[in-house]
Amino acid sequence: MTRPTNPSQSEGDVNDTPRRLQWQQDHLDDATRALLARDSAAFLHQSVSTPCLSAIRRAEGLWIEDTAGRRYMDFHGNNVHHLGHAHPEVVAAIKAQLDELCFAPRRFACERAVELAEALSAQFERLTGSAGRVLFTTGGSDAVEVAIKLARAATGRFKTLSFWDSFHGAGFGAASVGGEALFRSGAVGPLLPGTEHVAPFGCYRCPYGHAVDDQGRPDLERCRLACAAMVRYVLEREGDVAAVIAEPARAVPFVPPAGYWKAVREACHAHGTLLIFDEIPTGLGKTGRFFAAEHDDVAPDIVVLGKALGGGVLPIAACVARADLNVAGAFAFGHYTHEKNPVSSAAALATLRVIERDGLVEHAARLGAHALERMHDLRDRHAIVGDVRGRGLLLGIELVRDRVARERASDAAEAVLYGALSRGLSFKTTMGNVLTLTPPLVTTFAEMDRALDIIDECLTATH
Ligand SMILES: Cc1ncc(COP(=O)(O)O)c(C=O)c1O
Repeated sequence: MTRPTNPSQSEGDVNDTPRRLQWQQDHLDDATRALLARDSAAFLHQSVSTPCLSAIRRAEGLWIEDTAGRRYMDFHGNNVHHLGHAHPEVVAAIKAQLDELCFAPRRFACERAVELAEALSAQFERLTGSAGRVLFTTGGSDAVEVAIKLARAATGRFKTLSFWDSFHGAGFGAASVGGEALFRSGAVGPLLPGTEHVAPFGCYRCPYGHAVDDQGRPDLERCRLACAAMVRYVLEREGDVAAVIAEPARAVPFVPPAGYWKAVREACHAHGTLLIFDEIPTGLGKTGRFFAAEHDDVAPDIVVLGKALGGGVLPIAACVARADLNVAGAFAFGHYTHEKNPVSSAAALATLRVIERDGLVEHAARLGAHALERMHDLRDRHAIVGDVRGRGLLLGIELVRDRVARERASDAAEAVLYGALSRGLSFKTTMGNVLTLTPPLVTTFAEMDRALDIIDECLTATH
């Protein structure tokens, strides 16, 4: 089966490229090779998962350790490791909860799940000014689908509008609103009807053809937020869209131009469309605010959280909606076996507690600002760096063959990726050529500096 060829958020670190094979040749020991062979034989193969690159035996804090004993700073972590891996308070909370109550069968309320729903509702109210209500699911994709179903039920409409190039999960509904060819492949047949897409914001590579200055900043006077105007245009033409669903800051990363979300919010109001923010990777402080939406001072109607919510240990996600959207009580649209699981709720409560007590949101903002400053310096010194951008600890270094044509330097990005891995730093590339750095919120300034030194060395090696 042919693979989709357009660049993808998830692309860059999985293909059996000569460089990857060489890296494995140089770094894997016999025991690791044997485990990879068993893994490859046991699992259904799928792009960006199996076959694996290497094997892991320990994960603690910022660090992961492979089966050959090599240690890597984990600047990827699938965005689950806000607290670092295996945070002792999360682990202790889980152990304590296991002794107290392991499971809540349907129809039984449970203290921990209620406590967590109340905590997330309070955060939602702080963000939006409206009281919230919650449904928990086991994974982010399911929570996205709950949000879509709720929007359909509340509006009596079925269409959605989302971004090309986005990822919202692997389920049919989530893949339908997602915009990556890799997850929308013809192999699985038709997706949900009515899932319309629009080109996203992404100033350095503005899909509407507008230029940025030499620091990657858009000229808003000139472009007049064409990307937001297109959302309004589609909502008007379609006339019956239930919800716009998007990540407030795109995972590539791309941060929205000033005023983008306010314009989209107004367009949603004007056309009776709900605004759903997928904050699965960006929520809980990753961008230096508890919700990424806070940067744009915009109130969504529904927020979806996941990933780090389970402390990087247990799977749990949440759909948090305006309380007045509680209109589908006669239907069952989020009946998940673990919908009120006390153990994953305890992990989430411990996570929220640590984030607040240790001031991790503020730390992420400070550390991210420092990193961005250093990334600008990398851009000044390496012609191959076309753009640097990010918010908090969602950071990107975009490599280009030349700064005028901006052709993607995907080969160089791959060389940096494997060069960094050999030096003890793990991250992923996005769209083939963007070094995407998503370290945990517990990363120290010294660790951030070490990681950026490694990238600096690897960039020098590409000259
Ligand atoms: C923005 C976004 N939405 C949804 C998901 C799906 O989450 P899960 O893998 O828990 O289903 C992801 C996962 O990477 C994501 O990044």
